[in-house]
Amino acid sequence: MDVASRIEQALNTAIARSEVAECPPRLAAAMRYAVFPKGARIRPRLCHSVAAACGEDNAAATDAAGAALELLHCASLVHDDLPCFDAADTRRGRPSVHKAFGEPLAVLAGDALIVLAFQTLARIPCASERLATLTLTIANSVGVPSGIVAGQAWECESQIDLAHYHRAKTGALFAAASVAGAAAAGVDAEPWRMLGEKLGEAYQVADDIRDAAADEDEIGKPVGQDLVHGRPSAVLSYGLDGAVQHLHQLVRDAIGAMPPCVNGAELRALMLSEVRRLVPAKLAQFAA
Ligand code: IPE
Ligand code: IPE
Ligand code: MG
Ligand code: MG
Repeated sequence: MDVASRIEQALNTAIARSEVAECPPRLAAAMRYAVFPKGARIRPRLCHSVAAACGEDNAAATDAAGAALELLHCASLVHDDLPCFDAADTRRGRPSVHKAFGEPLAVLAGDALIVLAFQTLARIPCASERLATLTLTIANSVGVPSGIVAGQAWECESQIDLAHYHRAKTGALFAAASVAGAAAAGVDAEPWRMLGEKLGEAYQVADDIRDAAADEDEIGKPVGQDLVHGRPSAVLSYGLDGAVQHLHQLVRDAIGAMPPCVNGAELRALMLSEVRRLVPAKLAQFAA
């Protein structure tokens, strides 16, 4: 089975656990709505590519780690769109979860997806040491002091350092995807952190560029939000062309940070194709 199908199947298996008689049906429906149809699935794809580069020896561990990362990402989007955060009415080209199901179910669906991620990890058939590394790596990337929750909380502070904010809000889960891919394959995982951190920072810079320069139809969510909410952004700090150049430098840094491995070609190709996908065509000329 190809990687894309493995990712969808693992997510479907996880979500199906909520679709049973004892679970409130609208909560189960909101959870499925938050995860399907898919977005870029970049975090599980990174996890799978790193696992393959490291000589994957336990496909079930990679599948579960990839699913857990994506469930946590989807949960973060559900909460991020709520009126108390970004008040975004659309996501992935259709009404966001609170618009479709109401705020209480959006809060609960996000909560349940977070828990489901760890339920999915706990079922991995592997040695307890490998499981502990995977669980702690992924948990650290979403909590405090420097995971997604901390990243979102920086928006409640009066002083924010852009790189620090981006690292927590977006970079941490990418770093976890990279480290978890290596951990799932049973190799020394920490050397893979830098690649994920750089790629995550690049991805948030790309998101800032698209917020400033893409159309809502193109990206399936509101644009111009960083300005509306007064958020620090790479475009505000470096200008549009400077932000595109910064993005390309970060991807070069990510590729340069790849540790020696058995097969890195697929991973290198993934990183390069992501930059092409993320930079709006009209800005491609700014690439250094
Ligand atoms: C959007 O992430 C939020 C960020 C952290 C930049 P994605 O761009 O990966 O969203 P989907 O999963 O493709 O919808
Ligand atoms: C969202 O950041 C990152 C999360 C941790 C959810 P943004 O608010 O910048 O992302 P979008 O533009 O809504 O996807
Ligand atoms: Mg936000
Ligand atoms: Mg948002």
